[in-house]
Amino acid sequence: MTKLVAIVGATGLQGGSVLKALHATGKYKLRALTRNPDGEQAEMLKAKYPGVEWVGADLDDPSSLRSAFQGADVVFGVTQFFQKDISDKVESGNEDAEYEQGKNMVDAAIAAGVGSMVMSSLDSMKQLSHGKYPGVLHFEGKHKVEEYLTSMLDKIKGYFVYAGFYMENFVEYSRVSPEDMRIVEFTFPLKPTSKLPLVDTANDLGPVVAYILEHPEECLGSVVEASGGYYEPQDMATAFTEVTGIPSRYVQIPYEYIGSDELVQMFKGQEEFGYFGGRTEFLERNKEIKHDFTTPTSFWKNRGWAGPTK
Ligand SMILES: NC(=O)c1ccc[n+]([C@@H]2O[C@H](COP(=O)([O-])OP(=O)(O)OC[C@H]3O[C@@H](n4cnc5c(N)ncnc54)[C@H](OP(=O)(O)O)[C@@H]3O)[C@@H](O)[C@H]2O)c1
Repeated sequence: MTKLVAIVGATGLQGGSVLKALHATGKYKLRALTRNPDGEQAEMLKAKYPGVEWVGADLDDPSSLRSAFQGADVVFGVTQFFQKDISDKVESGNEDAEYEQGKNMVDAAIAAGVGSMVMSSLDSMKQLSHGKYPGVLHFEGKHKVEEYLTSMLDKIKGYFVYAGFYMENFVEYSRVSPEDMRIVEFTFPLKPTSKLPLVDTANDLGPVVAYILEHPEECLGSVVEASGGYYEPQDMATAFTEVTGIPSRYVQIPYEYIGSDELVQMFKGQEEFGYFGGRTEFLERNKEIKHDFTTPTSFWKNRGWAGPTK
């Protein structure tokens, strides 16, 4: 029987990547979740991926999730730390706001009788750093959801995909050089030679989730990292110039320029303990996934982007 997969965040990078990859297999019935099924983004995706059912649901509204998950065999879940409503809750003292979204999804999936759940999670930086960086809330919240889902394994099978450091972040954290307007700069507080497991989320996360669905026994109880390899931040600048011909450089900015202690702890934790705690075993396993993972060069080629305007 064809399995029905319900995809949370289908209009976003992670859910959109899952939608794209599973649709391409032709093996699943798909239900895409968004808060706005008649919105512009959903309408564009309906035209792009015919045959997908679109359903309205809100992660902060458990009853909408229970309805949206009815009849699904699998749920792909992703929580949203950086959405304004969640960051507002966190700033006003509710550090569990992201966890609550994840718990809502797990509880709704169990109530709806869903068999398996693939949750987008991350390591606990508090654990990776042996307590040195306890405040990376968007890692801790996801990890707490993972622990909750793991505690429910007698009711639902839980699988965990960890997204690498998005290549898309390099678009977001780019600027025209303040010293020379012809030069594009990519800016993080990380060393230029820091080792980052990069992922082109829109293209590479979905095939990893498809692999989990096709290899449930192998993947149950183990984390599956979505990244095609370790690269250095400076590699993204070199590749950008190679592809576009536009001069660029990577600039290591001071930690003081990062407005949030949460992100400062994340970058320091990554630098000292590794984004995936320095794990490399996944590189071998990901060779089994029938997918060409994006490299810095192919990322800029696919993107066709000529750099920021300011
Ligand atoms: N940047 C990185 O390097 C990195 C690495 C690993 C993990 N992450 C994590 O990735 C997550 C973000 O995922 P993404 O990149 O896919 O986000 P995104 O591209 O910003 O998309 C957000 C998606 O979430 C949906 N959404 C937001 N709030 C919702 C709510 N209350 N109820 C239902 N749906 C909601 C949106 O749907 P509608 O607006 O259509 O409702 C949209 O589809 C964050 O938690 C972040 O920590 C980021």
